Formats: sequence, C-alpha cells, structure tokens
Amino acid sequence: MQLDRDAAQEEDNDGARKKVFIKTFGCQMNVYDSERMADALSSAGYGITDDLQDASLVVLNTCNIREKAAEKVYSELGRIRLAQEARRRAGRGCVIAVAGCVAQAEGKEMALRAPAIGIVVGPQSYHRLPVLLEQHAKSGETIVETEFEAAGKFGALPPGKLHAGPSAFLTVQEGCYKFCTFCVVPYTRGGEYSRPASEILAEAHRLADRGAVEITLLGQNVNAYRGTGPSGGQWDLPELLSALSEIPELKRLRYTTSHPNDVTARQIAAHRDLPKLMPYLHLPFQAGSDRVLKSMNRKHAMKDYFRIAQDLRAARPDIALSTDIIVGFPGETEADFLETMRVVETVQFAQAYSFKYSPRPGTPAADRANQTGEDIKAERLARLQALLSAQQAAFNRSMVGRTLDVLWEAPGKKKGQLSGRSPYLQAVHAEGDPALQGRISIVEIVSASQNSLHGVIKNCGTLVI
Ligand code: 5AD
Ligand code: SF4
Repeated sequence: MQLDRDAAQEEDNDGARKKVFIKTFGCQMNVYDSERMADALSSAGYGITDDLQDASLVVLNTCNIREKAAEKVYSELGRIRLAQEARRRAGRGCVIAVAGCVAQAEGKEMALRAPAIGIVVGPQSYHRLPVLLEQHAKSGETIVETEFEAAGKFGALPPGKLHAGPSAFLTVQEGCYKFCTFCVVPYTRGGEYSRPASEILAEAHRLADRGAVEITLLGQNVNAYRGTGPSGGQWDLPELLSALSEIPELKRLRYTTSHPNDVTARQIAAHRDLPKLMPYLHLPFQAGSDRVLKSMNRKHAMKDYFRIAQDLRAARPDIALSTDIIVGFPGETEADFLETMRVVETVQFAQAYSFKYSPRPGTPAADRANQTGEDIKAERLARLQALLSAQQAAFNRSMVGRTLDVLWEAPGKKKGQLSGRSPYLQAVHAEGDPALQGRISIVEIVSASQNSLHGVIKNCGTLVI
C-alpha cells in the first residue's frame, strides 16, 4: 500500500515526474529555507528543475525587508502566471506557492491580489508544504498557512538528502525581539528562537557527510544564540562554534548576522582561539548618529560599536569587518549623515551593504511625519556607496602579493577557472583543475578588482589545515 502511494507521488497528472522550480529572494536564511523546502518536497516525490516550463510546482521564497524586494515578487508572479497558463494549455498543471516573509506579512491578501497563487506559506510553516499541496489538490482552494511557531518546524523537517556544496548554511537561531523601528523581521519571523545544540551538531555532521567543508551559521541575531546544550544547560554561540570546530571534515566556520548589543567577550575571544573561525564579522551599525540610533530603537551608541571593533582587532588583528547601513531614516539631517560617513572612515570596512530607508507598513518609523525626501536619500546613498566602494577596492588591493587559503566552491565563469572564497569572504578566481572543488588551496593573489581577486594556485590541491 505504502509503495503504491509512493509510486503515485512520483507521478504528475500527465505521467511525468513531479518537479519543483524554486526561486529565492532576499537573505541567506531564505537560501537555507529554500534548501529545506527542496528536501521536504524531495521526500514527497518532487525532483528539482531549473526550467519553469517543466515545473508542476513553483515556489517563490520571498523577502519583505524593503519595498523593492516585495515588489520584485509581484513582477515575478506575472512571469510565472504566463508559464502556468502555457502549461495549462498543454494540459499540464502547475501550482504556485508563495513562501517566506511576503507570504507571512500579506497572507490572504496575496491570494486576493494574485489569484493564480495556490498556496501561501509563512517562514515557520514551510515544512508543511507537502500537506498543504495535498489540501490544495483536494479542495482546489487557495491554502493560506501563516503559523508562527519556529520550534516545531525544525523538528518536523526531514534530514537533508540533497548534495551539499562545499559551503553550506545552517540556521541556528531565528526571529528577533529587538524591534528596530524600521524593520519587519520581528513581525514576519516572530520572536527569538534558538535550536537545541544537539540538533545543530547532527545537521552539521550530515552536511559534512554530504560534502560541506565550510558552514555559515545563520540567525537574525545569531550572536544572541542561547540553545539547550547536549547535556542540559545553555550554550551560547562561542560554545556552539567550539563544538563545531571538532568536526574534522569542517575546515571553516562563519556566522551571520550579529547585533552589537549581543557581542560578548567570549564571542571576541572565539575569533582569537578558534583557528577554523574565519576572520570576518558582519556587524550592522545602521547609522552613525546616536540620535538616529535612538530613534531607530537600536539600543546601542556609536561608542559601543567603536569599542567592539577595537577589541575584535586586538583579538584577531586581520579580522575583516562588514556592516549594514541605512541612509535617510526619518529625521536624519545632513549632520547625522556625516556622522555615518565618519564612522565608515574610522572603522574601515572590507565590505558593506547600504540601503535607502524604505518605510515598511506596520513598522513604527513608517508612520512618522518627518520622512526624508527620495532625492536626498538617493544623494546620500551615492556619497556613502562611493566611500564604501573605495574602501572595498583598497581592501582587495591590499591582498595583492599575499598568499591566501581559498576554498574552491564552483567552476569560474571563464573556462578552466575555479571560483572560491578567501578567509575574508572575497571572491577569488584562478586557473585550476575542477577536481579541486571542495578543497582549500594556497593561492598567490596577483590582481584585485572592486569585487574579486585573481590568483595562482601554489599547492596543487593539497588540503590545507
Ligand atoms: N529600509 C531600509 N533598509 C532596511 N533594512 C532593514 N529594514 C530596512 C528598511 N525598512 C536593512 C538593515 C538590515 C538589513 C538586512 O536590511 O540595514 O540590517
Ligand atoms: Fe530587524 Fe533590528 Fe531585529 Fe535586526 S535587530 S532583525 S534590524 S529588528
């Protein structure tokens, strides 16, 4: 009986194998979530396809962090609806499922605005996709599932089966209680939840077995991680990193995103003490003016950020810092903005993500009367990005002539080339044997551009560490 059911699941209406096309928008956590959805759907008999026309199920894993990100989803939906209609004309079905943060925020309204959608599923419920698909197939109605409990999700997901690349993501913490006044995350991802350490360690072992050499731990506030330890008690992030360091197949560990308020002396010491922990930290400061930070409800002042940067560099002198910055927050004056520029000049970032403030419905700052004009936002962003680009280019140039450990992740764009990452998360290209993918080589850097480094492999594929 069970076998018959499984066999039936392998078949689409027209006898072809069921296939899912997944498109991911937004952050690394969405990339991770999409991989988990692929696992869950593969257990339900779905294969993966890159061809929209070939898909009996299309999943859009959406992002709601800024207005532009949400708009992209609706324009993508238009394109997918056309593919769906073409399949229907050929007598083949196609269900459209919208997952992620837009789904959570808009729920039923999404289905009203875009009736072609069959399933709307929030980020805490995507493990239920196979069940929701069955419900949709039976009723023909649009199914909306926006439950808010993160804990159930991880336990209910099947262990990953698909091949992991050399560099894998692993969500350890989800959600946020901090309620920055610009941010939708507390409303779309819910409160802070840390997965138990044993569950994370088991997943890390599975990823390593499937080929992962590097793991990036993910969390909206990853350094607020406080999970149950394997023998009771509570583990923090450094404890977790230290345990993960013991897995021999894993050569590199990273984590993102940290919040300045949750940085501890132990976290800083981990960068000194754990050789596998890469010398890179993403630590958003958002705005350089204490007045703006207060109005953002960030609960840290710039002096705290400067102290953290200093302590990190004392612990690990070569650490590369990255950050997120918002310009044009309501009430930001030119003087406030110049404070942001001053912070960038003082701290010197290897990389940074900068955005125009985007009012998000339902967040406190969106309703404020003192919004900054679009032209001012654009002008400030251009000045900031010019400074950040110059810093990134200078950082990359400082690598020329040095040798770096590079983890090869994929073939490069050009034939015969490999593409990988330096310890400082820079993209690196070199001529090399494709068999080196998943290995770490010593590479002499010969040139640098704005976004990448070019090098020559010095040790023909010997695994370093
Ligand atoms: N407008 C602009 N940028 C935002 N971010 C979050 N919310 C907004 C918003 N409403 C940025 C922050 C955050 C990053 C992930 O996105 O800098 O750190
Ligand atoms: Fe959003 Fe602030 Fe929480 Fe980060 S700390 S996820 S910016 S509310």
